Amino acid sequence: MNLVDHKERDTKKVERMFSRISSRYDLLNHMLSLGLDFRWRKEIAREAGRINCQRILDVCTGTGDMAIELSKFWRGKVYIDAIDFSRELIEIGKKKVEKTNFSDKINFGKANAEMLPYQNEQFDAVTVAFGLRNIQDKLKALKEFYRVTRPNGRFICLEFSQPVNPLFGKLYFFYLMKILPYISRLAGSDLEAYRYLGRTIKEFLSPHELVDLIRSAGWENVTYKVMTGGIVAIHKGEKR
Ligand SMILES: C[S@@+](CC[C@H](N)C(=O)[O-])C[C@H]1O[C@@H](n2cnc3c(N)ncnc32)[C@H](O)[C@@H]1O
Repeated sequence: MNLVDHKERDTKKVERMFSRISSRYDLLNHMLSLGLDFRWRKEIAREAGRINCQRILDVCTGTGDMAIELSKFWRGKVYIDAIDFSRELIEIGKKKVEKTNFSDKINFGKANAEMLPYQNEQFDAVTVAFGLRNIQDKLKALKEFYRVTRPNGRFICLEFSQPVNPLFGKLYFFYLMKILPYISRLAGSDLEAYRYLGRTIKEFLSPHELVDLIRSAGWENVTYKVMTGGIVAIHKGEKR
């Protein structure tokens, strides 16, 4: 099997890993987060709703849940470009979107977040949910998000973080590293992929470090808030 080193995050290997788990991806996502992932994505949609949006780019869209949540929030009044480098996940996303009222408003595409196929200043907002952690060159991607955002536009990022309470943190990481991979295998998915997930979460930047990284890509007024005891954090930045 093609194992992914969580530090190296080789782009091709990460792409193949997500494609491999595509058939069980949605089910496990909702199951393992106890359905909280819907609430977290709703919060991102609300944040995007603070500015007047006509066109949003959802990067690392996977099966399109973030794009669908944005469409629901805007009642189909915005156009969303939903991109990911896994063709398999995109195909699942397309089928899901066909069953909604937003099929003409969400446009899926295969693209690498580090090299966006768009001209400058095309989008009112760029969103990324649980994607940044997986990107090999995060600074390069954050600069790309900045480039394609119009002046006064926003960047909004939802990402796993580290629990604030140390005791809760210990239990959470025990679950993440020792239990979750086996649950995923029982559910017919890939043990190694979920081990990778745990490692990337444990070693991801702290919210403060992520603020610094986002700033270094050019974003201004970068702020964050944590949710669910610090399991996830939402970072926001503005383009002046
Ligand atoms: C954990 S999933 C998140 C999917 C979705 N946003 C969600 O909320 O469920 C991470 C996604 O990032 C994608 N991805 C990782 N690195 C990428 C890159 N450099 N360019 C495009 N997509 C990437 C993967 O294919 C995967 O679909």
